Amino acid sequence: MKKTIVAIDGYSSCGKSTIAKSLAKYAHLTYVDTGAMYRAIGLYTILHGLTQSADIIAALNDIRINFIQVGDAQHVTLNGEDVESRIRTLEVGNRASEISQIKEVRAFLVAQQQQMGQTQGVVMDGRDIGTVVFPKADLKLFLTARPEVRAQRRFDELVGKGEHPQYEDVLADVNDRDYRDTHRAESPLRQAEDAIVVDNSEMTPDEQMQVIIDLYDKHCANS
Ligand code: DC
Repeated sequence: MKKTIVAIDGYSSCGKSTIAKSLAKYAHLTYVDTGAMYRAIGLYTILHGLTQSADIIAALNDIRINFIQVGDAQHVTLNGEDVESRIRTLEVGNRASEISQIKEVRAFLVAQQQQMGQTQGVVMDGRDIGTVVFPKADLKLFLTARPEVRAQRRFDELVGKGEHPQYEDVLADVNDRDYRDTHRAESPLRQAEDAIVVDNSEMTPDEQMQVIIDLYDKHCANS
């Protein structure tokens, strides 16, 4: 049977993972958070003090990334250790954005991501899913929202986790990350030509979910 592939790309903190998780549940597909994979490598480089590309590339042989189900949630593991909570910091997010510029790191993860889509139907979110990982995905969504809206959401999320960020720092971080993600030489974040853009700046989560479900039903329900 044909495996349904939904690719969700977009800027940081625009709610990709929330929407991807909900859609995966609705459509009975497996959710894959590719940002978590880049974050896990970012964490590895921080823990091992690796800053040079050559050292990071050499270390890929020693890095195993997997996903495990913990209750309702999916957690990423790094060499067998559940690192889900450790990868969700600003520091690891920034490092992930940096190491994601390395061609070999991308090739290492893209191969694993493509493999996941061969064995099961997936909703995969990231930056290059519709352009590089699954250029023939059944449905490609490009999510976006104004930087100020995304910064506020990210700020609220960090405060909810007990961190004490300054809003201005979070906004600067969102803008820096957008710049790096869209200007890197290797697979920069860009909208696939056949992607459908959803700007959720003014949508409630329920409104957005309805828009996405309607798109899924229209494009994939019979695939
Ligand atoms: O989605 P996220 O914030 O968890 O992703 C962290 C970083 O990983 C992001 O700044 C860029 C990189 N990334 C990428 O280059 N390609 C992907 N498919 C997913 C994430």
